[in-house]
Amino acid sequence: MIVVGNCESWPGIETTARHLQQGAHGLDALVPGLSLVEAEAKVRSVGYGGWPNLLGEMEFDASVMNGTTRDYGAVAAVPMTLEVTRLARAVLENLPHTMLVGEGARRYADELGLARDPVLLEHSKEVWWRKLEDVMTPEQKDAFPNTDLAPLTRAITDPEKVRDTTVFLCKDSRNNICTATSTSGWAWKYPGRVGDSPIPGAGFYADSRYGGAACTHTGEMTMRCSTARTVVLAMKLGMSLDDALRLAVTELQELKSGYTGGVVIHAIDAAGHHRVINVGCEEDIIYWIWTPQLGKPVKQQALKAEDLLTGRVEALS
Ligand code: GLY
Repeated sequence: MIVVGNCESWPGIETTARHLQQGAHGLDALVPGLSLVEAEAKVRSVGYGGWPNLLGEMEFDASVMNGTTRDYGAVAAVPMTLEVTRLARAVLENLPHTMLVGEGARRYADELGLARDPVLLEHSKEVWWRKLEDVMTPEQKDAFPNTDLAPLTRAITDPEKVRDTTVFLCKDSRNNICTATSTSGWAWKYPGRVGDSPIPGAGFYADSRYGGAACTHTGEMTMRCSTARTVVLAMKLGMSLDDALRLAVTELQELKSGYTGGVVIHAIDAAGHHRVINVGCEEDIIYWIWTPQLGKPVKQQALKAEDLLTGRVEALS
């Protein structure tokens, strides 16, 4: 058994580990852990602690995937809802669809009895307006929100300034590999922007026979490269976890046009090895890992992509 969570998974990873230890299915372990992250105001990329879009409205993306059946459920740009991972799980379990967006997703949350939560922290609201005021002309400010938002998008959105996304990956006691993701996305994003967290193959993918992967940071890149699927497919084609990650990193580094930034790939293989690779983020990237041998979740530092590419890494055993 193993669970890997990105640096912001701390409020929930112990709960997830406890469920796994008690023999729970991977999805039954991941969702309660992520719900705790979504409720924690100190986590500034997800749920209650997240950042709003350019209009000051919160829009959440989330997903869950069962690598044994390859079923997944996802929701995107959902308003007024903190427990979006739970909502994504309900899409997987109950609907003939795989993804709901916006008002349709919120409508389904109402049918499930999920509260219409207060989702915008007072602090987030103050910072949102202050940053917006800094980049708007007096004319734009007078007209706001009835002004074109596109010119403001590039001026203000900066995904490197928020630790966007919480991801969890696990292998449970019956060898099911599962993933779960949740995010408020880029701070000050254009309304309706959807990142990679609800997109299968980009922000997450799992196949219990080979492994699983989930990404944080610049979704605009992983969506162009299908990064999570690349990692898992490469293992299916016979590559080791490290070689699969080398391929995924190389594909990301080949992107020269469009919006480029850092990406962090979290991955496990079917044998229970794991790697977390920092592809171009300037700051050190921390993640959490739990196995029964470790006893409790511990923090580790991600490998830099350059060290993986040049072979300056300890072999996985
Ligand atoms: N990786 C999260 C996002 O791009 O929204």
